[in-house]
Amino acid sequence: MPTLVHSMTAVSRAEKTVSVSLGARSYDVLIGPGLLAETGRLIATRIGKAKCGIVTDDNVAKHHLATLEASLKAEGRYAGSIVLPAGEATKCFARLTELSEGLLEMGLERGDLVVAFGGGVIGDLAGFAAGILRRGVRFVQIPTSLLAQVDSSVGGKTGINTPQGKNLIGVFHQPSLVIADTDVLATLPPREMRAGYAEIAKYGLLGDAAFFSWLEANWKGVFGSSGPDLTKAIETSVKAKADIVARDELETGDRALLNLGHTFGHALEAWTGYSDRLLHGEGVAIGMAQAFRFSEAERLCPAGTSERVASHLTAVGLPTQLRDIPGGKADADTLLRLMGQDKKVREGKLTFILTRDIGQAFVARDVDPTKIRAFLEQEIAR
Ligand SMILES: NC(=O)c1ccc[n+]([C@@H]2O[C@H](COP(=O)([O-])OP(=O)(O)OC[C@H]3O[C@@H](n4cnc5c(N)ncnc54)[C@H](O)[C@@H]3O)[C@@H](O)[C@H]2O)c1
Repeated sequence: MPTLVHSMTAVSRAEKTVSVSLGARSYDVLIGPGLLAETGRLIATRIGKAKCGIVTDDNVAKHHLATLEASLKAEGRYAGSIVLPAGEATKCFARLTELSEGLLEMGLERGDLVVAFGGGVIGDLAGFAAGILRRGVRFVQIPTSLLAQVDSSVGGKTGINTPQGKNLIGVFHQPSLVIADTDVLATLPPREMRAGYAEIAKYGLLGDAAFFSWLEANWKGVFGSSGPDLTKAIETSVKAKADIVARDELETGDRALLNLGHTFGHALEAWTGYSDRLLHGEGVAIGMAQAFRFSEAERLCPAGTSERVASHLTAVGLPTQLRDIPGGKADADTLLRLMGQDKKVREGKLTFILTRDIGQAFVARDVDPTKIRAFLEQEIAR
């Protein structure tokens, strides 16, 4: 089994390094304040000579693009920047075409780098473009949302959405380096910060009860700007994800645990049309609360567990119930149909991540859809 190396380095101020061990495709995740301005040097020393084509969105560009461009220009590695509209709708075929052609126009060659500079939307789209450009060029993730820093920038899943569902088209393509600058989170809207926190809580809930208890006691510090609690929460989350990805890169087993809350959550996102009514992390928060309520109803986990989970999510300001989504309730048949579109469907049976307790999630591959339907009816009536 590949081992996980985790160490402090002196590359920059208070930086932590988590290594993702995947043989020839191994890479480091650098976490800490002040890293963005160091990008040119970090790429030069860790990857070598390569031109960099930046892909970002208009929100991130407004606040941080000048710093990144200056850093790459100082090392003579800047090839150009492509700025796309912010939002989930950008993760689509039309933008993939526009982006791929833009990167070719920029003159990126096989040895060059795509730099995905943004939240999960930009990371997924730019990573996919890098995976298919000239049959695959390397890319660097510079995640700027909390969700992207703790989850989507690590692990190599890339892709786009289609009317049939989320992330149904894509490739596995691991980045060559991930640079998570905690300072850039200062400009992230509070609602997006909370949505990213849902994925942090997920790591505690799925496999690390002590981390969940730590979050219950320290979550206010995690929301403090660039402090040690924020770095610790990101580092612990990335370490957990790196460990699972190293064990199961292509999601044939354990990696599915990372989908805790996602089968419910993806259906809710599809139902709300990937709109502002429900952010991805908010869908995951409701989905995790539902996974615990369903597990408790099935007597898989102790009574009271789902209440503890929901209390913590509520304390940080995350939704936990269908009624928390503005604009009306879904019906059970629609949600069940949308779950059927999820990639976690095999031979008509639904796969859910269920739990035996906090920190003890497991993959349940043959959940009876009629039980889920009855559960959804209860959820709608809550
Ligand atoms: N590949 C994976 O393993 C994986 C895992 C989880 C989620 N995802 C995907 O990630 C996406 C969600 O990611 P997200 O929540 O980062 O969404 P996002 O990329 O849409 O970013 C959220 C919002 O925050 C803005 N933003 C980002 N960084 C900012 C900053 N520093 N300052 C100001 N504004 C900033 C963005 O412009 C956007 O408006 C979904 O598409 C989801 O499917 C992928």
